[in-house]
Amino acid sequence: TTRSLLILPGDGIGPEVMAEVRKIIDWFGTQGLAFEVSEDLVGGAAYDAHGTPLHDDTMAKAQEVDAVLLGAVGGPKYDALDFSVKPERGLLRLRKEMDLYANLRPAQCFDALADFSSLKKDVVAGLDIMIVRELTSGVYFGEPRGIHKEGNERVGINTQRYTESEIARVARSAFELAHKRAGKVCSMEKANVMESGILWRDVVQEVHDAEYPDVELSHMYADAGAMQLTRWPKQFDVIVTDNLFGDLLSDLAAMLTGSLGMLPSASLGAPMANGRPKALYEPVHGSAPDIAGQGKANPIACILSFAMALRYSFDLGAEADKLEKAVEAVLADGLRTADLLGEEGTTPVSTAEMGDAIVAK
Ligand code: NAI
Ligand code: MG
Repeated sequence: TTRSLLILPGDGIGPEVMAEVRKIIDWFGTQGLAFEVSEDLVGGAAYDAHGTPLHDDTMAKAQEVDAVLLGAVGGPKYDALDFSVKPERGLLRLRKEMDLYANLRPAQCFDALADFSSLKKDVVAGLDIMIVRELTSGVYFGEPRGIHKEGNERVGINTQRYTESEIARVARSAFELAHKRAGKVCSMEKANVMESGILWRDVVQEVHDAEYPDVELSHMYADAGAMQLTRWPKQFDVIVTDNLFGDLLSDLAAMLTGSLGMLPSASLGAPMANGRPKALYEPVHGSAPDIAGQGKANPIACILSFAMALRYSFDLGAEADKLEKAVEAVLADGLRTADLLGEEGTTPVSTAEMGDAIVAK
């Protein structure tokens, strides 16, 4: 079997955390598990080289490989650029053209970090939830959009728009996932104030009743969901929600487990000819310009994203377990990057030291 992987480190801390994943890929290579790895530019790095945040050749490569692993894009250097060439556009194009409609964001609490959470230990200890965020539609893409002049003032416009089939396919992803987990899905929208929310609730219920009646389905307003996620997150197993609410709720869930630097994600689309789903794996965090270039970034989110790739794209569940256990063991030993330390002033380890320790385990 060939296992092809396209690595797109991107900007800021992207290349720093990806260098640690490379060490792990190399280690698997020494164990006889080879990956066909290619590397390319995305985001600001691609704009600097080609004048576009994603070259057509890179896009074509992404469509061919078994999995894409991306670091992060963006940074202050590119903030003034026109929207059409902003670094984020490179990532949005990948997601859109690969049609990655289901974004999987696990929020898992490693025991060694339960004390670090901003919530009480018993609220987060053993937490294991999965937020499924619709990723290719909704208010980030809806038309009309833009800033228009109306009389004497400017008006900023975005449109939330969902079709039935867009809702149904992401609902199926959530129900399929629930089958492999605790068999529970909570769907979140704002059916009280949004038309798209009313349709969302109806379609999720219809897909459930017709195809997944065995899954326990509940519905919740997304604002109440935010409240419940901090009050007692363990009530949830799989949460399915739209693009905008999923963006917010998954960042909130990230803080339940300690740091954005711990949170991996997978974005899956329809199956390819070889049966593997189109897939892009990336840490939830961004390019962190405030700490870029200082060796401070936590590489674990990116490393755990690779673990998800092992599991969902390459059918290497045992190897994914092994990698996750190495991460857990290193944390249990007390190793912490700066983002995982409170104010106490314990000495943090660097990005590279954390990567080396995980490889050693
Ligand atoms: P961010 O996620 O880059 O940073 C938020 C905070 O978390 C910062 O204080 C940062 O230092 C910290 N942080 C993030 N990842 C960390 C890690 N691995 N280890 C230690 N600390 C970490 O979000 P922010 O600051 O809002 O955005 C910065 C840039 O990244 C912007 O240009 C933004 O557009 C872009 N961005 C890109 C994303 C992507 O590539 N998927 C996602 C979010 C933002
Ligand atoms: Mg976000």
